[in-house]
Amino acid sequence: MKQPDTILVMDFGGQYTQLIARRIRELAVYSEIVPYTANLSDIQAFNPKGIILSGGPRSVYEAASPTISEEFFSFCIEHSIPVLGICYGLQLIGQVLGGKITTYPKKEYGKIGIKVLNQEGLLEGLDATEVVWMSHGDQVTELPENFEIIASSETCPVAAIQNKTDQIYAVQFHIEVNHTPNGMQILRNFVFGICKCAPNWKMASFINETISKIRNRVQNERVIMAVSGGVDSTVAAKLIEKAIGDHIFCVFVDNGLMRKNEVTEVKQNFEKLLKLKHFSVADASNLFLSRLKGIADPEEKRKIIANTFFEVFEAKAEELKGQYGIIKFLGQGTIAPDRIESGVTSGASAKIKSHHNVTLPEKMNLEVLEPLALLYKDEVRKVGKELGIPEDFIQRHPFPGPSLAIRIIGDVTEEKLRIARESDAILIEEIKKAGIYNKVWQAFTVYLPIKSVGVMGDARTYQNMVLIRMIESQDAMTANFAKVDWDLLERIASRIINEVPGVNRVVYDVSNKPPATVELE
Ligand code: XMP
Repeated sequence: MKQPDTILVMDFGGQYTQLIARRIRELAVYSEIVPYTANLSDIQAFNPKGIILSGGPRSVYEAASPTISEEFFSFCIEHSIPVLGICYGLQLIGQVLGGKITTYPKKEYGKIGIKVLNQEGLLEGLDATEVVWMSHGDQVTELPENFEIIASSETCPVAAIQNKTDQIYAVQFHIEVNHTPNGMQILRNFVFGICKCAPNWKMASFINETISKIRNRVQNERVIMAVSGGVDSTVAAKLIEKAIGDHIFCVFVDNGLMRKNEVTEVKQNFEKLLKLKHFSVADASNLFLSRLKGIADPEEKRKIIANTFFEVFEAKAEELKGQYGIIKFLGQGTIAPDRIESGVTSGASAKIKSHHNVTLPEKMNLEVLEPLALLYKDEVRKVGKELGIPEDFIQRHPFPGPSLAIRIIGDVTEEKLRIARESDAILIEEIKKAGIYNKVWQAFTVYLPIKSVGVMGDARTYQNMVLIRMIESQDAMTANFAKVDWDLLERIASRIINEVPGVNRVVYDVSNKPPATVELE
């Protein structure tokens, strides 16, 4: 099989590294991510048509910050491999090739207007002024030799640079996020115009490649598969099943933190729709709820849930062993954002929150198998569609592994769970009725531990608050709050207040990500 044209992304710990790779896949070009520590022979093995140096949370001047050698650039020039640096990548190019970087005390963050000074090469087809998304503390203040400035802004004179002879390009802003409206044009210029890639990669290739990778790794062993009823774990389960047949054992753990009717629905879906041969439910609700009792800190809650999940799966694997033989692997539906935000990609990223499935216990007897770890949700949905999973199922909103525990701010109790469950069911019912369920990325309610005064009938109330969060997004890495119809919001709020005892106030979350996150904890 002919190897598809490949763009390599070197990861310096940026929040958006996986997003760069995904944007390249959107252009039907194959992309792989390698850690910044990859050596030249590792790089050569990929035979890349181009290399992108990602962003990162550090300063190039900090001690032990991730870096790259001067030989790397000589190697790329010698092999005619174009390089594009993004944000930290630009600063590395500046520093390693002899320019000067200055650290400013105040970070520049948000949408900025730039002037495009050269519309040939990297910035071809762009307007004379453009809006871009900046997020940086350092700036290049002296250019390395043979580079020209191709874009600048008032606050960031060196916003983009190029050295056309050596094919080294760099931008201070993030071209991979939607907040840079013409970011994809710049990426297209690099991938097709400069690296001369052919658009010869598609999702079906991902499926075939993944199935054969799973087969090679698992061989004749068995996999216990953690399924949540959501899209990611279901698609991962289907892929693994295609690879190893009935050596996959799907287990749904009821953690007592599920939404209304969820356990019954998941059972029905697996038994009727997906027809996976081995499927069982492990009821561990008492264990989860007792361990969470009195715990208010979000990271602590996440860790308890993660550890308990792994413990339950290990116990279940032991149980299955008696009947079927040793289980070697734990399959999970982990996707790229789970790994990025948990800070486990290159070892250089900042931790935002510990996604439950990524925070592995130090000692675990099962080997982890995560066939979707490089993909984003909408890509997973495409894979699901190709695999013939019903559309209704594929369009389900994401639901986090720690479940309602992170949609109850503070400690979890049965009473708060009731409020979170009932209010959430009303919200979902109403947005389905209004025909917007499939238009928003996620919609959910959150129990807030705040009491406020209200009046019901003629009496004073002093009760709880529920927050409604509805967002629009493409991949959950960035998100905007959904600007939904006021009448719909009013209907939902009044139903929650009337039908969920203990709630007298409903608020709507109007924060975007960043700087907020999707979930509140
Ligand atoms: P945040 O809150 O990190 O959410 O902006 C991004 C996306 O990830 C989901 N999420 C999780 N998914 N395990 C998961 O499987 C987790 O621990 C977790 N935490 C957040 C969130 O619902 C959103 O879609």
